Amino acid sequence: MQRKVTKAVFPVAGLGTRFLPATKSIPKEIMTLVDRPLIQYAIDEARAAGIREFIFVTSRGKSALEDYFDAAPTLEASLRKAGKDDLLELLKSTNMESGAIAYIRQQRPLGLGHAVWCARRLIANEPFAVILPDDVIAADKPCLQQMIESYEETGANMVAAMEVPHDKTKAYGILDVDRDMGDRVLVKGMVEKPEVDEAPSNLAVIGRYILTPKVLHNLDQNRKDNRTGAGGELQLTDAIAQEIDGQGVYGFRFKGQRFDCGSKAGFLQATVSFALARPELNAEFERYLRELVGVRKAAE
Ligand code: UTP
Repeated sequence: MQRKVTKAVFPVAGLGTRFLPATKSIPKEIMTLVDRPLIQYAIDEARAAGIREFIFVTSRGKSALEDYFDAAPTLEASLRKAGKDDLLELLKSTNMESGAIAYIRQQRPLGLGHAVWCARRLIANEPFAVILPDDVIAADKPCLQQMIESYEETGANMVAAMEVPHDKTKAYGILDVDRDMGDRVLVKGMVEKPEVDEAPSNLAVIGRYILTPKVLHNLDQNRKDNRTGAGGELQLTDAIAQEIDGQGVYGFRFKGQRFDCGSKAGFLQATVSFALARPELNAEFERYLRELVGVRKAAE
């Protein structure tokens, strides 16, 4: 019987250059949608999917991330004293069980594949999830949970997939589909950032993966063989694609709305959407947006 997926890797060692100057001192993953850092959404999604071990691949300047998951005794004591029980509960819900989180440093930003490879010893010989916190997915059933349920039927590698406009394929890894089974598609090829006329489909890979340990082995081998892409980057896509003729690769069309919070436009869209979904903000914020749009229309 295949092993349950209980470990997740969160590669957060990137430079976040699209958010400079903010990311000069704030890790991108600590930036907030309303009042919750991006990383909190990723952790909540992983927990809901049954993940028990959280492996962060970090880099220099990301210590705010470690502090975020630490207990905050002084703050907790002062909230308790002030009788602010609701805030205390909120704070406690962010605490992580001791020993559930591990931090590993990626010493140089040599790509997503390299970041995942850095976690190899902690993953050892188990299937594992990879979550890119930049991709925030609002869904009734959390995306990773949907994927794990589907993975349990196949035991093969699985990448989250989403249809994107044809002229946007260049921004994504794109799947070449062998067999389309609705939610799940069997993959016969993966192309990283193809030109519009070279894209085999418009089904794009999004930042959620369930991978077999064989992919780690492929990463290791590709690294030894110097099979790297531009800038010496070790590609995760390559190591997954090597399993197409091995343990198999599926794309999974998740149900939910994905926001690309690695880009400014996506981050702003997520902010508006999550603010409108908050009962305590909704009425005032919606009124403000309507007025704003009204004023702009009138000015045109
Ligand atoms: P991105 O391509 O979004 O890069 O990485 P980035 O550095 O975060 O942001 P920009 O493009 O400079 O603005 C996708 C994910 O892979 C991680 C990032 O932290 C992000 O979660 N990553 C990327 C690493 O952990 N290490 C790397 O070497 C590269």
